[in-house]
Amino acid sequence: MKDYLPVEWLGDKVRILDQTRLPQEEVYLELADLQGIAEAIVELKIRGAPAIGILGAYGIALSALRIESASRDDFLTELEGIIRAIAATRPTARNLFMAIGRMQRVAGAADDIEQMKRALIDEAVKIHNVEAEASRKLSQLGAELIGDNFTILTHCNTGALATAGYGTALGIIRQAKEQGKKIKVFATETRPLLQGARLTTWELKKTGIPFTLITDSMAGYFISRGEVDCVIVGADRIAASGDTANKIGTYTLAVLAMEHGVPFYVAAPTTTVDLSLASGDEIPIEQRSPEEVTRIQGVNIAPEGTRAANPAFDITPHYYITAIITERGIIKEPYGEGMKKII
Ligand code: MRU
Repeated sequence: MKDYLPVEWLGDKVRILDQTRLPQEEVYLELADLQGIAEAIVELKIRGAPAIGILGAYGIALSALRIESASRDDFLTELEGIIRAIAATRPTARNLFMAIGRMQRVAGAADDIEQMKRALIDEAVKIHNVEAEASRKLSQLGAELIGDNFTILTHCNTGALATAGYGTALGIIRQAKEQGKKIKVFATETRPLLQGARLTTWELKKTGIPFTLITDSMAGYFISRGEVDCVIVGADRIAASGDTANKIGTYTLAVLAMEHGVPFYVAAPTTTVDLSLASGDEIPIEQRSPEEVTRIQGVNIAPEGTRAANPAFDITPHYYITAIITERGIIKEPYGEGMKKII
């Protein structure tokens, strides 16, 4: 497989693979300032909950390096401004807020400014390593659920691109193939921004896993014909109840899977779990620009002035989920108890 590094730490800057240019072009960008990194997250140059958390942490660390204040209090005030800017980029991905919490704690614990700057860099690198390790581990655990000759349906993109590591749902698929299982994949195109059509297919092609691209609205056709053995998706935030926020369209797939007796798995690192929220009703859902719906890759597809809605995620209630696969184990109902045990 030809390798690619979605997020690479270079010591005084971060190098990212611009996912908005894929699959046409493999363009790498070097970023070192707050505005560039915040924009990269908002514009989905880097996306996927774990990768957002990692780039957010690097963004905080790199911006902190540029703070010139000589007093600890002034430094911390400026740092809070930076953190607010990073926190405002994308509200749903739990991993971003998990990373921010960790960065705030190490800064608060350091004695002087030089120590704070070093600690922030070290913590960002640690967050990257923890996420990468978690995605590899959960992929190994999850691959046990995949039988030989399985056809798996997946949504959005949850590979190395989304995790700056091994992948979650796509990591499990990749691991199953590495174990020698013969598998096939249905990748949904994932409107409006086509993460499935542009990115999942790009990653599957590199791993040599056979796949068929379908539009989101074709899922029911293939599931109802018995052509899908299981559905695996990622998550942006999982509440204590097991209710899961993931890319818009996930809920529809979960309902379809249950209707047809097909297992529906959610794969996510524990950094995506938010035990402070009792249920999915409390998960903030990002609303994006209507233009992402009225245009496809810059081309208008609706009459001028068309109103469009664009929630980026939906909530799948826990009772549709057959199991949640994390790096610390595979959890089933009752999720509340299982989740408390592993977190
Ligand atoms: O809007 P995106 O592309 O960031 O949405 C990504 C997803 O919904 C993924 O399924 C989720 O973040 C998990 S990535 C391992």
